[in-house]
Amino acid sequence: EKGTYPHYMLKEMDEQPAVVRRITQKYEDACGELTIDATVMNAIKAADRLYIIAAGTSYHASLIGKQYFEKIAGIPVEVHISSEFGYNMPLLSKNPLFIFISQSGETADSRQVLVKIKELGYKALTITNVQGSTLSREAHYTLLLHAGPEIAVASTKAYIAQVTVLAIVAYAVAGTQDIDLKKELGIAANAIQTIIDHKEDFQKVVEDFLATTRNAFFIGRGMDYFVSMEGALKLKEISYIQAEGFAGGELKHGTIALIEDGTPVIALVTQKEVSLNIRGNVKEVVARGAYPCIISMEGMEEAGDTVVIPQVHPLLTPLASVVPTQLISYYAALYRGCDVDKPRNLAKSVTVE
Ligand code: F6R
Repeated sequence: EKGTYPHYMLKEMDEQPAVVRRITQKYEDACGELTIDATVMNAIKAADRLYIIAAGTSYHASLIGKQYFEKIAGIPVEVHISSEFGYNMPLLSKNPLFIFISQSGETADSRQVLVKIKELGYKALTITNVQGSTLSREAHYTLLLHAGPEIAVASTKAYIAQVTVLAIVAYAVAGTQDIDLKKELGIAANAIQTIIDHKEDFQKVVEDFLATTRNAFFIGRGMDYFVSMEGALKLKEISYIQAEGFAGGELKHGTIALIEDGTPVIALVTQKEVSLNIRGNVKEVVARGAYPCIISMEGMEEAGDTVVIPQVHPLLTPLASVVPTQLISYYAALYRGCDVDKPRNLAKSVTVE
């Protein structure tokens, strides 16, 4: 039930801090340590490479998950779009484990891959929000997202849940003490709350940057690149503004030709080691007339940034930085009179290939 909320999407974005906290509780052991089921843990440890299969927003969360498995647990990962993988299978490693990331657990493109890899004798883990869903029933192992039902077509809290669960899985498999993940997830939940508490600020951002534009670009480097792609997808989906997410350094290899006077470029600046590089990329587009909307993280902010979000652990920045992009999409859709919860041409779960 959406209660007093005008839209499910707004309600679901509001729930995000609680979702992160709920997941941390659900994945706690008796001693309060974050952990996962031992069978799943062993299956992951036995693999020489993980193949993550997903679509849309879940694909974007998977790209973050790859960073976690590689950087926290030292396990190599490939991430594939399900509709491509099924018909153009890459050369597989000796002992692969397949991980299906799906909010609904019903995405036909992903199921088709699951059927195929099971025929080949490989094992599969599904990470889904829906217990008993097709992808969960047909996989060997399941982990749940615990995000609660997501009704709005545009996925918000499920993405947050996917990133959170993937961080916990990588951390549990690594058995690392290097990072106090529980504490850092708590800080991330508070950061999301702070952004949500100031959500009305994004109405002004939309009026300034997206009121009449035909198109918009999102740029970022490192993890901000992945969040840029997700931000662009959300904006396209619900506001119908043509948007693309790019790696900051890639624009000058072609796309910069599209920048005209006033083209909005939303830049994410949360990655310390490349913050000067992305600032440089912003200067490049500004020199061609772009209108830059800079979303930076505390500690990297500069005077004139449009939005400054609270600091979180470097690995968890997507949990915070995606939220401004969700709110921008939401208010852009509202401003333009679009049906926020049920955008045209889309269904909540895509059950055809
Ligand atoms: C975007 C969106 C879609 C889904 C995609 C995968 O907001 O909702 O891109 O993320 O269709 O769906 P699931 O995760 O259910 O497999």
